[in-house]
Amino acid sequence: METDDYIDLFDDLDDNEQTENFLKKGQRRKRFPERHFKEVRSRNAGFLKGQDDSSRSIDFTYKAARFEEWWLLESLGDFYEHQWITDVLRRVKGGKEASVYMCQGGEATDSKLVTAKVYRPRELRNLKNDHQYRVGRIDLDESGNAIFKDGDLHAMGKRTKYGEELRHQSWIAYEFQTLEILHNAGADVPEPHAMEKNAILMDYIGDLDIAAPTLNSVTLDPDETTALFERVLRNVDLLLSNDRIHGDLSAYNILYWDGRITLIDFPQVVSPSANPSAWNIFLRDVTRICEYFNSQGLKINSQETASELWTAHGHRIAKEVHPLFLDADDEDDRRLWKKQKDVK
Ligand SMILES: Nc1ncnc2c1ncn2[C@@H]1O[C@H](COP(=O)(O)OP(=O)(O)OP(=O)(O)O)[C@@H](O)[C@H]1O
Ligand SMILES: [Mg+2]
Repeated sequence: METDDYIDLFDDLDDNEQTENFLKKGQRRKRFPERHFKEVRSRNAGFLKGQDDSSRSIDFTYKAARFEEWWLLESLGDFYEHQWITDVLRRVKGGKEASVYMCQGGEATDSKLVTAKVYRPRELRNLKNDHQYRVGRIDLDESGNAIFKDGDLHAMGKRTKYGEELRHQSWIAYEFQTLEILHNAGADVPEPHAMEKNAILMDYIGDLDIAAPTLNSVTLDPDETTALFERVLRNVDLLLSNDRIHGDLSAYNILYWDGRITLIDFPQVVSPSANPSAWNIFLRDVTRICEYFNSQGLKINSQETASELWTAHGHRIAKEVHPLFLDADDEDDRRLWKKQKDVK
């Protein structure tokens, strides 16, 4: 593949900042263009493999750009073949981690509309900051089973290309498995339907015209605020009962539709019992929720709310986070580290 094609290809993926950074990285190394593109070629060989494979041509209503179309077919082709979906209707959102599409449900599901969350290629995903979430988590394979083979564990530890692929897969499998567990436990989450190597399929929240907005963009009616806050806490509590903390909970990861809330976006869930930073991650989740509901007129003390829930599940409140679990590039983490140091 020619240099320009690579650039076109990533341009086509979307105009997301991370794609741009990926390209800029190449521009900085202009002095060795050959070397750079060889490197890119080999790094991306996995996901580029088959991009010219024309065996799959499905005429979706949503007309994607060139690379995105190939990526959609790669990611959603099996859902289509197994009748989970019959069409991709439109893109709901392109996120930093994944793009989300509204699809028409097929015979394999009772839902007329379903959501496909298609993860960005591993190479264009930011895995840098996932360390603190993975601590204490057993990695999962593409069927959702624990990875235990020495070779696989070694590859992940060494961060070989194959190892990175497994980590990427495990990240997605955690989202799907968590949705299954929480849905079965009666939590307010989209019902999950199916998982493929690079995508998950779940219920769609919204209608044909618009997808449900995220809570941060909604001004609540004063009559519903308290009940919705309690509903969110009920879900946080259900997560704890299932040995999970959301890890990125905020009004940005809660959908609001017809007066009801739905929690989404679970790949980074952490275990409250196995992750040494669990209390701080939990406190951050609860604090963000309280901040939103306080902005809607409630007066909630986030520290007290978090402590109550946490200790009710028999967890101890950790005094501080070990520096090993803090990310020097993350502003919040740096602030926490400084605060801990000052307290000593
Ligand atoms: N089941 C769903 N029904 C309707 N819309 C959804 C659904 N799941 C996700 N979305 C939409 O897609 C967006 C991105 O989903 P999600 O938060 O899971 O991915 P993400 O990659 O973490 O995105 P972001 O970087 O925006 O947080 C959500 O903010 C929401 O607007
Ligand atoms: Mg999100």
